[in-house]
Amino acid sequence: MIHVQGLRKEFGPNTVLDGINLDVAPGEVVAVVGPSGTGKSTLLRCLNYLEAPTAGTIEIDGLALTAGQETRKQIYAMRQKSTMIFQNFCLFQNKNVLENITLAMEVVQHIPKERAVDQAREILRQIGLLDKQDSYPSTLSGGQQQRVAIGRAMALHTKVMLFDEPTSALDPCLVGEVLSVIQQISQEHNTTMLIVTHEMQFAHDIANRILFLEGGSIVESGAPDEFFYSPKTERAKQFLQYYSMKRYQ
Ligand SMILES: Nc1ncnc2c1ncn2[C@@H]1O[C@H](COP(=O)(O)OP(=O)(O)OP(=O)(O)O)[C@@H](O)[C@H]1O
Ligand SMILES: [Mg+2]
Repeated sequence: MIHVQGLRKEFGPNTVLDGINLDVAPGEVVAVVGPSGTGKSTLLRCLNYLEAPTAGTIEIDGLALTAGQETRKQIYAMRQKSTMIFQNFCLFQNKNVLENITLAMEVVQHIPKERAVDQAREILRQIGLLDKQDSYPSTLSGGQQQRVAIGRAMALHTKVMLFDEPTSALDPCLVGEVLSVIQQISQEHNTTMLIVTHEMQFAHDIANRILFLEGGSIVESGAPDEFFYSPKTERAKQFLQYYSMKRYQ
């Protein structure tokens, strides 16, 4: 589903992604973990072409783009191949919950309003927010707002979803409801997912594979049990030690 080769991203003199090679199979859920500032968000942003890579090739669902050779049309097409969910929800504050979901369907996918409303209501039912369809984002909890943002992404029916720390702006007691919606989508819709997260237990439980990124490179890539219980590199061991210390603080 996703095939990345030699992906580099430089901001001025700063090399943020240093030759990433990555293959993600259809329906696979990959959790991306690593210290702050190591390029996790930049990786997702390049996959969605919110950032133009400096070098390398990105292929998603049969569309391949090579850095420096992309046309505007190809970039637009690539952005439609995945949806991104951000830590701060990015909802339209002046639209209610239902409109937040139907707007993208009408504008991006040109779905007639009536059908968009039907589909949006079905999604709201799935994520347990049908009773909030007329509410405005500012009247919802953070967890509910993030579920609306996820619902909006679901409405676009892309085969790939990219989550950038979907729960890090949430009160700890609201994290669970968002994580369970993500888990539900991965199980019921077979969506291919890349999830940047600092929730190690969630990463362990949901992912088929953990990518450990540091200094713009993939340092480790392995099954969750392998990564968490017998990490191969010293850097991964140190990272995990930091997390287990944090948990008991
Ligand atoms: N638009 C930009 N312009 C210049 N530098 C940038 C830009 N975006 C990111 N960077 C730099 O790239 C590096 C990686 O940033 P990125 O946001 O990808 O890290 P991250 O792994 O997501 O970190 P965190 O866990 O804190 O979110 C950082 O040094 C950051 O300052
Ligand atoms: Mg980030």
